[in-house]
Amino acid sequence: MHSPSELLKRIEQAITEIQYPIYPGSLYEPISYIMSLGGKRIRPTMLLMAVDLFDGDLSAGIPAALAIETFHNFTLVHDDIMDNAPLRRGRKTVHEKWGTNTAILSGDVMMVEANKHLTNVHVSVLKPALETFNLTAQGVCEGQQLDMEFEKRDDVSIEEYIDMIRLKTAVLLGGAMKLGAIVSNATKEQAELIYQFGENLGIAFQLQDDILDVYGDPAKFGKQVGGDIISDKKTFLRLKLQELASKNDLASLKNQAQNADNKMKIKAITGLYDLYEIRTAATDVMKHYLDLAFLALTEISTPIERKEALINIANQLMNREN
Ligand code: IPE
Ligand code: IPE
Ligand code: MG
Ligand code: MG
Ligand code: MG
Repeated sequence: MHSPSELLKRIEQAITEIQYPIYPGSLYEPISYIMSLGGKRIRPTMLLMAVDLFDGDLSAGIPAALAIETFHNFTLVHDDIMDNAPLRRGRKTVHEKWGTNTAILSGDVMMVEANKHLTNVHVSVLKPALETFNLTAQGVCEGQQLDMEFEKRDDVSIEEYIDMIRLKTAVLLGGAMKLGAIVSNATKEQAELIYQFGENLGIAFQLQDDILDVYGDPAKFGKQVGGDIISDKKTFLRLKLQELASKNDLASLKNQAQNADNKMKIKAITGLYDLYEIRTAATDVMKHYLDLAFLALTEISTPIERKEALINIANQLMNREN
């Protein structure tokens, strides 16, 4: 077993060793830029934790970890175009720095680079690894499309929201952990259980992301606070408010949606969230999905000591500031 910080070191080292072509620089510089800005590297870390859990060989997990982190960074580059986001990890987004067309194409190449990493998994597990990776990647695209569609709708249900975040965020964490199981030759049943752990944790993770988008500290969050409010994202917070608000407050929420003054819009809608204690409601649902994640973990047939690191990191993720 390795500590998460040891695993993170291994990942950071492997990332610095990646060599992208140099020509044309305008295609590859944005890739090195976004990949070097760090972030939590939670998906590759948890992939390697799954390798540890199933007593696999860490070095067998590295190609899959690099594939997952590269794919994740690709989704961020494109997500920031879709969300019109100015900031990522405390720095300018790729499309702000290099323009939208370059951000699209560099993102596309990152998807290819992710595939190239994946081809380095052991040949005996290549097929299931590729199947899991593809299913995951397709799910993310489906979720992202729903996320955008929901911006324009006012009748999104909480059930639809949960399924949307399951796709855009949770399948990737589940898929990452399943890849860790696959490269460690875990049984199908065990791989499915660690997938369930990751998927439920991923739903909780996105709920926390939605909370931080409103309540994060701008100095620590690394992204634009209030971005979801500006773009009328149908987050859990927004949907719960729509469910609880009085007629009057609902009307003012509708008015605020038209407000072109972003600062005022953020202030007014956050005020409504506070009034209806929406943050608490969101935290409760987050905890519910964390519990579901732990339930799946309980069913995995490895000794409890092996699971402790996963339990700790899951709890830490629920208390993060970025
Ligand atoms: C951001 O993911 C996208 C979401 C699914 C919320 P992270 O919060 O893992 O971003 P980084 O990689 O740490 O920057
Ligand atoms: C995360 O959604 C999903 C993906 C990036 C695929 P968000 O749009 O909430 O992610 P952030 O907040 O920009 O990181
Ligand atoms: Mg988005
Ligand atoms: Mg976004
Ligand atoms: Mg977000």
